[in-house]
This record gives sequence, structure tokens and C-alpha cells, in this order.
Amino acid sequence: MGLKSNSMKDTLSELDIKVTKTQHSKLHEVDFNNLAFGSIFSDHMLVSDYINGTWQTPEVVPYQPLTLDPSSKIFHYGQSVFEGMKAYKDENGEMWLFRPYDNCKRLNISCKRLAIPELPEAFFMEGLKTLLKVDSDWIPTTPGSSLYIRPFVFATGKGFHASPAKEYKFIIATAPSGAYFSGKVKVLIEQKYSRSANGGVGYAKAGGNYAGQFYPTQLAIEKGYNQVIWTDDTSHEFIEEAGAMNIFARIGDTLITAPTSDRILDGITRKSLIEIAEKEGIAVEVRRFSVKELVAAAENGTLKELFGAGTAAVISPIAGFGYNGKDYDLPEQDDSYATKLKKIVTDIQYNRSKDPFGWRMKV
Ligand code: PLP
Ligand code: COI
Repeated sequence: MGLKSNSMKDTLSELDIKVTKTQHSKLHEVDFNNLAFGSIFSDHMLVSDYINGTWQTPEVVPYQPLTLDPSSKIFHYGQSVFEGMKAYKDENGEMWLFRPYDNCKRLNISCKRLAIPELPEAFFMEGLKTLLKVDSDWIPTTPGSSLYIRPFVFATGKGFHASPAKEYKFIIATAPSGAYFSGKVKVLIEQKYSRSANGGVGYAKAGGNYAGQFYPTQLAIEKGYNQVIWTDDTSHEFIEEAGAMNIFARIGDTLITAPTSDRILDGITRKSLIEIAEKEGIAVEVRRFSVKELVAAAENGTLKELFGAGTAAVISPIAGFGYNGKDYDLPEQDDSYATKLKKIVTDIQYNRSKDPFGWRMKV
């Protein structure tokens, strides 16, 4: 990997990014009609190293394994953050991104919280565009599929001392992907474990946040649910997130979602859906909502929909939830907000409609 010193932080263009192409493309091995989520990886990746106090000019190289010292701090102290985004191809073969600057900003918010040096925006944006142009044939065009993009940063610096590393690696890897969930999901409202706490790292996309979710989620799966609904860490009385998604409830004809906080990821899908819903004339309330309110609405028939929202899953309708040993089923909706909002947001993402919000960016 080249370690060319970077003295052009703010002026970097795609032309400055060295590209080394693979001699062994795996493209012909991919069945684009049967794509799982995030399990096969495109031919190339973007890499930049943080050395001597500077992020080095990124390069596109063949997708390959990494060699790391066993004392690298990522293994011991979990200094690792990531992003999730998608590239879409339209009917004319043009490539599109959705609000990519927001992902770049959020990556740096996460970096800051984990004491990782922030990345110059141009490295992320120009690097990503270069990578996508090199691997443009990997963006699927089969319905419902896209190229999932995973930017991540982690500590490569060595040593058992519990302090921030001096060296890091930034990588963008991509994976042609189909749906994250197949069908509706059944969720369990969590009453014991917490995903995050005030003053913690819940608002960052830190790898450790997800590791901490696996065990409680496994317990929920053993009980027959697909996902956990996270509640606030102090009382477990308020609904916060749905696994790796933000959560929306439709009570009557009002759409409700929890406000972002220290504990909740400021989801790009969530904030887009709020804007779309408001533009469509749907009443939206961004406020705390309690499990009690949800259960009461399920019991009196006003809880019409519950759905998760995130980049990977887009909108994931929830078929029912479990709480206090009891299961509550949600009715099928003819005029589902989830279906309506999903159509509008994906039409913008795939360039099938106008984009009145200016969210779509051509690669
Ligand atoms: N909440 C959590 C914990 C997540 O991991 C994600 C996924 O990225 C989201 C919410 C949704 O965020 P976004 O819509 O930006 O993908
Ligand atoms: C995303 O929605 O992009 C996420 O990052 C969720 C991930 C854990 C699959």
C-alpha cells in the first residue's frame, strides 16, 4: 500500500487517487438474481492509513485480507467505527448515492467519540466515487438490490496500553446485496438489557455497540423473535430503537418516532422519512413514547403499524411484538404508511422519481 504523504487534504480529486486493479475479478461468479445481504464482496476496496499524525492519500486496491499485529488496539480496546450506505443504478446505468455527505459527517462524529482522528471529507467522497467507478459493474440492477457500502475506521496501532492508538486504517468495502430481512419481523421489547446509556456511545456507529446487542438478540431469537426493541436504559419504559434500525409507530394516523439523543443513532433513513411524511401531509410526532402507550394502542386497536427504518433494511414492517410474556399482533394495513414511504424513498434513491429534497447524488 502506498504511503504517499498527504499535503492536499482539501484539494484532493479523484485524479489523485491511485488505482491498482485486480487480475482476478470474481464478478462472473456472482449470481445477481440471488443476492443475500453483505456476504460477497466486490473486486476492490479503498484504503487510507493514518500514520505520523496524517491520513495518507487513499488508494483503490484489490479486495484482500489484512495483516495486523496481534497487539493492534482494535483487538483489545475496540476502537472501531463504521458507516452503512448504498449505491443504486438506474435504468440507464447511471450510479447514484443517497445523502452521502451525511454518512461522512456521521463517521467523523463516531470517530471523535472513539478518540479516532477524523477523516478529511474529500478522502471519503472522492475515494468513494473512484471506488464506485472502478467497481461499477458490481452495482446490481435486480429489483430490490443495491451495492451496500461499508466505510470503516479502526485502530491498527500496537500496544497493550489502554490508550488511543497512534495508527489507524480507513477502508471502504462494498457488497452487492439483496434484502436485509425477508418478510415481516416479530420483535421483543427489551426489559433487562440496554443498548446504550446517557453519556455513552449509542449515538456513534461504534462496532462495540453491535457486539453488545448480539447476546440479548440471541436470547430473543431463542424465544421466537427476530429482533429486540431497545428501551431507555434507566426505566426500560420508553421505546428507542429497533435492533440496527430506528423505529416508527403509527397510532391512529399519526407517525411517532423517538427523538435522537446520546443513546440513539441519528439515522439518515429516519430523518428522510420524517421529511417525506410531513411533505405527504402525514402528522408526525418526534417525541418519547412509552411501552405503556404502545401496549394500550395495540389493545384498543389504534396501533396500526410499527416499522424499523435504516439503510440496510430500508423499511422493515413489524408483524407483532412481545412484552411481559404476552404477544401483540399488528393488523395488515391497506393504506400502509410503511409501504407508501418506502416507495417514495426508494423511488428517489433509484432515480425513478424527482428528488424535491436534493438528496440524490450522481456518481
Ligand atoms: N440505528 C442503528 C443502531 C443502526 O445501526 C442504524 C443503521 O445504520 C440505524 C439506526 C439507521 O441509520 P441509517 O438510516 O442512517 O442507516
Ligand atoms: C445499516 O443499516 O446500514 C447498518 O449499518 C445496519 C447494519 C448493522 C447492517
